[in-house]
Amino acid sequence: MAPIPHSGHAAVEAYLAEGYSSVVGMSSRFAAAICARLLRLQTEEGVGGPIAEIGAFEGRFFIALAHALEPGEIALGIDIFAWPNPEVKDRFEANCLKHGIAPERRVTIKADAGTMSPAELIGHTGGEKLRFIHIDGEHSRAALSKDLALATACLAEGGLIVLDDMLHPGYPTLMVAVQEYLAANPGIVPLCIIDRETIVGATKFVLCQRDWFERYQAVMLTIFKEQVWPLGADFEPHWCLVLSLDTRLAAIT
Ligand SMILES: C[S@@+](CC[C@H](N)C(=O)[O-])C[C@H]1O[C@@H](n2cnc3c(N)ncnc32)[C@H](O)[C@@H]1O
Repeated sequence: MAPIPHSGHAAVEAYLAEGYSSVVGMSSRFAAAICARLLRLQTEEGVGGPIAEIGAFEGRFFIALAHALEPGEIALGIDIFAWPNPEVKDRFEANCLKHGIAPERRVTIKADAGTMSPAELIGHTGGEKLRFIHIDGEHSRAALSKDLALATACLAEGGLIVLDDMLHPGYPTLMVAVQEYLAANPGIVPLCIIDRETIVGATKFVLCQRDWFERYQAVMLTIFKEQVWPLGADFEPHWCLVLSLDTRLAAIT
C-alpha cells in the first residue's frame, strides 16, 4: 500500500494524527491529507484567499482544510445544521474550538446552499472569490447541479472545486450531474480523482480551470508520486491523475 501523503502543514499533520478520527464525519484521512497538500500547492503557485465547505456537518474535514490556510485567510462552513438534530451546529463550533480553529479564522453559515446566490456567499468574504470549495451537501442530482453552479460562480482564478461521494454505490446519479456540468462548462476539467478508503470515506473528484490543469498536474506528479495509480482516469477525451493508497494494477495471469 502507498503511504498517506504529507499534507504540507504541521498543524494539519497534528490534527490528522490526533483529532481527525475523533470528529464524527464522512471524509477519509487520505482525502484530507491530499486536499491540504493541494491548498499548499495553491499557496506555492501564488493562489490565495478564502475557502468554503458546503456540508460542514461536525467539522471533520473543515478543520483539516482550515488548518491548511495561510495567515489572514478564512474558511466558510455552510450547512443547514438540522441533521441528525439542530445541536449539530453546537458540535461543529465545539469541534472547531477544540481542534484549534478560532472564530476569527472561520464563518459558520446556517443556510441551504441550494438557495444561496453567489453574491450572498462571497458576501461573507467581503466579496473575495474562493480558492477552494468542497461540495459535500445534499446528495441529489439536482442539488449537486446547484452547488456546482454556485461554486463555479464563486471560484477564484486558480481555484479548485472538490466533489465528495463520487462513484459512490449509494449515489449513482451524482455522476450524471457531473457529466452534464463538465459538458456545459468546458473551461473546467477534472484535475484528479482521490480514491476512496472505505464506502463512507468515499472517492472525491478535484476540478480546476482548464488553464491551470497542466501547471498543477506537473507538480502533483512529483508531490503524489507514491499515490499515482498508473492508468489514470479517462474522461473521454480528457485524462487526469488517479490518486490511491492501492496503486497496483490487476494481476494478469
Ligand atoms: C455527508 S455530511 C458532510 C460530511 C462532512 N463534509 C465530512 O467530511 O465529515 C452532509 C452534510 O450536508 C448537509 N446538507 C444537506 N443538504 C444541504 C443543503 N441544501 N445546504 C447545506 N448543507 C446541506 C447536511 O446537513 C450534512 O451535515
